[in-house]
Amino acid sequence: FTPMNFTDELVQWYLQNKRDLPWRNTTDAYVIWLSEIILQQTRVEQGLPYFYRFVEKYPDVSSFAAAAEDEVLKLWQGLGYYSRGRNMLKTARLVQEQYHGKFPQSYDELIKLKGIGEYTAAAIASFSANEAKAVVDGNVYRVLARYFGIDEPINSTGGKKTFQTLANNLLNKKNPALHNQAMMEFGAMLCKPKNPACGICPVHTGCAAFLSNATTFLPVKLKT
Ligand code: ADE
Repeated sequence: FTPMNFTDELVQWYLQNKRDLPWRNTTDAYVIWLSEIILQQTRVEQGLPYFYRFVEKYPDVSSFAAAAEDEVLKLWQGLGYYSRGRNMLKTARLVQEQYHGKFPQSYDELIKLKGIGEYTAAAIASFSANEAKAVVDGNVYRVLARYFGIDEPINSTGGKKTFQTLANNLLNKKNPALHNQAMMEFGAMLCKPKNPACGICPVHTGCAAFLSNATTFLPVKLKT
């Protein structure tokens, strides 16, 4: 196989089929951070109205940092996991103080912030500044496990390393933002957990899972 063909096909697919989502039309790290935190454990359709409300009420870090906690949690109502809302406010205040209200864009700075893990740091760094970091979220695990036929558990230490390494190797260093969005959108829209649309998939002829009828069994996740 040739990895470049695989990722190029996904990018082509993405350009023709992507949803028009508001956080894709900005490079403002603060706005991207808002969207990524809201979308953790939340579906896009459910998160969208919250995203619009937050951006309208708090258009920048300074306005967010100045908010009262009960006001933020009220806006958060219905999303669940209130620790996310509380951590957001802590992070906004820290960014206001230590970064003078300018949201960090580099992976190494982002990863230090509360509520920002490897995935979120890679997402913000690549989408806001085109930093060459590969995102690995549930969508990416699924796409890679199926296409390359990897049955290593995605929640094992070795598995996480395998997938992160593969994702880094596949990353298009010229346009990390586009590449990352394409990988995630492809997993969300076409290479779905149940009933993936293999019939219209542009890479199914090279997909290990499709060729061996194993899409149902990949990715492998250990019960914890
Ligand atoms: N879920 C998390 N981040 C996303 C993004 N950037 N686009 C679509 N869905 C997402």
